[in-house]
Amino acid sequence: MTQRPYAIDVMISAKAIAARIEALSAEIKAEFNDTDKLVVVGLLRGSFVFIADLVRELDLPIEVDFLEASSYGNSTESSREVRILKDLRGAIEGRDVLVVEDIVDTGHTLKHITHLLQSRSPARLKTIALLDKPSRREVEVRADWIGFEIPDEFVVGYGIDFAQRNRNLPHIGKVRFTD
Ligand code: PRP
Ligand code: MN
Ligand code: MG
Repeated sequence: MTQRPYAIDVMISAKAIAARIEALSAEIKAEFNDTDKLVVVGLLRGSFVFIADLVRELDLPIEVDFLEASSYGNSTESSREVRILKDLRGAIEGRDVLVVEDIVDTGHTLKHITHLLQSRSPARLKTIALLDKPSRREVEVRADWIGFEIPDEFVVGYGIDFAQRNRNLPHIGKVRFTD
């Protein structure tokens, strides 16, 4: 299938993202200031840019781990099923954990992952998402920290893809079809 032609307009600049991450990091540091070790868990693949910038603002004793969940299979919209393609390398029992996500859309991914990780008995489990599209929600879930609440637009960049492209844009862009 060939891709419809599109242009990308800037929605959130790299500078605005950096400023927001600085502010969020201060809140996270305050929350976890007494931690002996914070396991920062990036959800692949979309969170790889965000987690890289975020951890460099967190002067806390951290470890980094990754988890990959499947995109939805053939299941219908209302019963979307999330499978684990790549699990954490380390155990999180008794650990402080911060789950890092790029965007919360229907909410299925974040909800499933938080339930899964909660079942492993971490000491504290918190979540952060750079973007939140509350108007798209199908299940009730909210990240503890949110970078930006956005309308229901097709966004790309800063880790987020459109058919696997544009993850390397330094800003968050909005897709505009040009055909
Ligand atoms: C995207 C995005 C979130 C998820 C949000 O990931 O990165 O992880 O969808 O959608 P939801 O709230 O409706 O579950 P995707 O499955 O496209 O994989 P990717 O991160 O590898 O791009
Ligand atoms: Mn993702
Ligand atoms: Mg994707």
